Amino acid sequence: MNQATTFKPPVTVALTGASGAQYGLRLIDVLAAAGHEVWVMISKAAHMVIATETEISLPAQPQRLAAALVERSGAQTGQIRCFGREDWMAPVASGSGSPSAMVICPCSTGTLSSVATGASNNLIERAADVAIKERRTLVMVPRESPFSPIHLEHMLTLSRMGVVILPAAPGFYHQPSCIEDLIDFIVARILNQLQISHNLMPRWGEASS
Ligand SMILES: Cc1cc2nc3c(=O)[nH]c(=O)nc-3n(C[C@H](O)[C@H](O)[C@H](O)COP(=O)(O)O)c2cc1C
Repeated sequence: MNQATTFKPPVTVALTGASGAQYGLRLIDVLAAAGHEVWVMISKAAHMVIATETEISLPAQPQRLAAALVERSGAQTGQIRCFGREDWMAPVASGSGSPSAMVICPCSTGTLSSVATGASNNLIERAADVAIKERRTLVMVPRESPFSPIHLEHMLTLSRMGVVILPAAPGFYHQPSCIEDLIDFIVARILNQLQISHNLMPRWGEASS
């Protein structure tokens, strides 16, 4: 008899076209390894960034993208689901869909602006709008340098709505020895916000083993 596999609660991960695709890809892998269902959206610009910054080749078509991410992360079949830019029937498109925490990582200043103003022009923006109206956890990981007053005002607006603004600005006090250590610094911070336990790096004040 076929028994449906049950995963831990879904987490939505959206990659947009800011530099730092590795943060979002690593987050997907870690969430899958922790047993969570992962709902993924990758913007067109994010695909360009992935192609520029990594040697990872990912198809754009949602089913094929899901298969590629499952293979990459070693997740189980069905554990990672992907949704396209205008997949308005996806659960994340409506407040009546199954709830999930959402992370936009990395978050472009374009998506930051759209979410701050409620544009909902694509599924990523709509899912963030739903997360805000439903008072669900939404973590946004912007990357730009320097930030303009426009970016800063959008971040303040969103922060006042309860959105967690978690800039892609890794610390160095854990003495990173490679890029992966810097990536895990940010991924660990995101997991802390989602209240998902991990051993990517020790919490401050706890000894590293
Ligand atoms: C290689 C590359 C790097 C980029 N880096 C950034 C960045 O760090 N921050 C940012 O806000 N936009 C960056 N952009 C520009 C965004 O991708 C662009 O504004 C895009 O319209 C964002 O669309 P999206 O939010 O739908 O993904 C980058 C684009 C490319 C191709």
